[in-house]
Amino acid sequence: RSGSFVPAVVVGTGYGAAVSALRLAEAGIPTLMLEMGRLWNTPGPDGRVFCGMLNPDRRSSWFRTRTQAPLSSFLWLDVVNRDIERYPGVLDRVDYDHMSVYVGRGVGGGSLVNGGMAVVPRREYLRQVLPRIDSARMYGRYFPRANAMLRVNLIDKGWFESTDWYRFARVSREQAGRAGLHTVFIPNVYDFGYMRREADGRVPRSALAGEVIYGNNHGKASLDKTYLAAALGTGKVVIETLHQVRAIRQERDGSYVLTVDQTDEGGAVLRRKEIGCRYVFLGAGSLGSTELLLRARETGALPDLGTEIGRGWGPNGNVMTARASHLWQPTGAHQSCIPVLGIDDWDNPDHPVFAEIAPLPAGLETWASLYLAITRNPERGTFVYDKAAGRARLRWTRDQSAPAVAAARSLFDRMNRANRTHYRRDLFGTPAKAFADDFCYHPLGGCVLGRATDDYGRVRGYRHLYVNDGALIPGSVGVNPFVTITALAERNVERVIAEDIAR
Ligand code: FDA
Repeated sequence: RSGSFVPAVVVGTGYGAAVSALRLAEAGIPTLMLEMGRLWNTPGPDGRVFCGMLNPDRRSSWFRTRTQAPLSSFLWLDVVNRDIERYPGVLDRVDYDHMSVYVGRGVGGGSLVNGGMAVVPRREYLRQVLPRIDSARMYGRYFPRANAMLRVNLIDKGWFESTDWYRFARVSREQAGRAGLHTVFIPNVYDFGYMRREADGRVPRSALAGEVIYGNNHGKASLDKTYLAAALGTGKVVIETLHQVRAIRQERDGSYVLTVDQTDEGGAVLRRKEIGCRYVFLGAGSLGSTELLLRARETGALPDLGTEIGRGWGPNGNVMTARASHLWQPTGAHQSCIPVLGIDDWDNPDHPVFAEIAPLPAGLETWASLYLAITRNPERGTFVYDKAAGRARLRWTRDQSAPAVAAARSLFDRMNRANRTHYRRDLFGTPAKAFADDFCYHPLGGCVLGRATDDYGRVRGYRHLYVNDGALIPGSVGVNPFVTITALAERNVERVIAEDIAR
């Protein structure tokens, strides 16, 4: 394929990329998707495609010699992480100075590793964050389309109330209630019918067997089973794996050339390819799409890119925390890895928080309750290009996480006071701390809609170059982001196909 030309290239295979490829293909446009990670469809020696969280192997992590689980310790002991072989595993952690960002690698991007929580944001808040999008169309057309395509479903409430697997969530709900806080059920792309059959012992276990951040072997409708399967089904889409896009330049005739490294499973570059195309859709995620455009601007490859590239980044106000329960209120040795309840205090005028009640599937009783809080942190980071290293650096300082911690603290102090409980400080490594504010799961922004791009993701300064992923959302959306990324991508690509693409 060296020196080949295709009509459209989509970089990445996450949410924004998968939507873009499917809709381009349906419009009759042959589309090549380039993904730096693997295709996760072949079982390893143990007969499983993915490894579990309690006994991770090389499949867990993107080119590391030790796993880097977000919960790194238990009673301050490093019992969670394992030495592993370097391999293109499914979960990556990109480390910047004061912030580490977890991302998925492989065909399906973040959908392979995430908790599957599928939440439509509050209408008023989305209007504040992205004021120029038509919210009637967004909520009437694109969110329903995204939910249907992603196969979002809800847990059966009767089963939730009775099963041991969600005792941990019921304990937190009761304790939240004592503090005057209310909880809401959170929809998910994990098939709850399958989960019930897991509980009954009728099918192989996945969510009920400690699987989530290193991939689910069953039950989850990740993108490879939804959008990407549909895209491949058109016969117009080809996905090349272990292909990392390094550079983008433009030819005199307006077409683009991508420089792409094809690597092997050891990370060695097998071949460097140049791929020409008329349309480029960046779906490499907040970090990936932003870095590609920054590099193009700073190396002079695309000199007309503006100063907005790299700006408006945020971690969706993410903070993780954990509380200790009383001995007489166990959270359960059996915990489903799929969260289904959130504490919704977003209407709090001082400290809005939406906190998912997360499992801590240790396989034994821990009396711990874990939470991923989404807060409204107004701080934003900026990516700058480090020419010597050839990569983007994130300007984000530790104190920029302080508003998020203050909000989470205000909610969980309230819960602790009402229940006479306290924080667990032994779970997030040393030194001991109650709040993990140095990593996130929800990177957003870097090429913000209406600033770095027009209102539909067309990159300012260039024709036929688009961003269509989490990089468009300015740092915060108030809920878990993938449904919004999907719906926004549906909206943008529909307009772009109608107006820009010659057939
Ligand atoms: P996404 O990151 O999905 O995809 C980008 C793809 O591009 C990746 O496959 C990557 O390998 C590839 N790529 C990057 N650079 C490239 C290059 N140069 N060349 C080729 N390929 C390249 N959200 C939610 O709504 N509910 C939830 O429950 C969770 N839970 C959760 C848990 C964990 C552990 C994580 C890490 C994340 C979540 N999230 C989540 C977040 C969610 O997964 C995330 O917001 C989306 O995956 C982002 O979608 P994008 O389309 O922006 O990119």
